[in-house]
Amino acid sequence: MSSIKHLVSWKDWSDSEIAEIVDFAVYVKQHRVFFSGHMAGRSMAMLFQKTSTRTRVSFEAGMTELGGHAIFLDWMASNFSLSDIDFEAEYLSRNVSIIMARLKRNEDLLVLRNGSKVPVINGCCNLFHPCQALADILTIVMDRPNDWKSTKVCYIGVHNNVVNSLIGITAALGIHLTLVTPIASEDSIVKEVVDRGVAKGTLSWEKDVHIAVKDADYVYTDTWVDMEFFNDPKFQKEKEERIELMMPYQVNSNLLKGTKAKVMHDMPIHAGYEITREVVESERSIIFTQAENRLDAQKAVILKLLENP
Ligand code: CP
Repeated sequence: MSSIKHLVSWKDWSDSEIAEIVDFAVYVKQHRVFFSGHMAGRSMAMLFQKTSTRTRVSFEAGMTELGGHAIFLDWMASNFSLSDIDFEAEYLSRNVSIIMARLKRNEDLLVLRNGSKVPVINGCCNLFHPCQALADILTIVMDRPNDWKSTKVCYIGVHNNVVNSLIGITAALGIHLTLVTPIASEDSIVKEVVDRGVAKGTLSWEKDVHIAVKDADYVYTDTWVDMEFFNDPKFQKEKEERIELMMPYQVNSNLLKGTKAKVMHDMPIHAGYEITREVVESERSIIFTQAENRLDAQKAVILKLLENP
């Protein structure tokens, strides 16, 4: 494997590298103008096999603010769907300085990474969403600059790619994460990542959602149905079963009553399912700040991988 630094998953980064990029993301957010022009003359390819609002906008806006350019590539409208992924990736890396890819399968992302001669950023695959986790931690650090290391995060929902990345980043930083995940299929759990959280003592599970939120500083939720299946008629029956099973775990005012917890969600939101509109719009919600922070997080990752500041 090449020595190029990529961001496929936080499991490939050391604790100190993760701590450094979190600090750097804070610095980037606080010194926005300082980095304008750092990517002048450079392009990023953004390859999407799935839909996106935040990932696409924040990477494209990020490259623009840094003085570079982002090229949007729809998987189906490109020749990735016709050829070997590594060949297409090697070609791309002869024209752009960095690649961000949102692919359905982690295996395909690894093939793309192996073919690339430039850094590759995972824009969310079936197993990981590292850029989201960096924005999440940036949000917590900005929200509690003096005591963020001792905060308690509680994730309520389905064990998914967002959870794997949260486990990885919180383990590296020593932040405690409690999972209330009634649905946690074997193929969604990455043992190596869970082992890191358990070994660090930062990861625990709780079945009773009311106990879990009692002392939480942040309650985090996400969709119960993966984005590519949400409107798929073939997934309708499983979607209905999931909704029935998960409804008692909805993040709503009743659940949060008497707690101090602020509320996070990586978006897109399915109001009335994993969270109520009332909570999204409440004083507790830092959801839109969290989503805004994707921009600063992406810029930090781009700068780190290309300039290693
Ligand atoms: N959270 C997130 O990745 O949003 P998008 O799917 O809209 O990019």
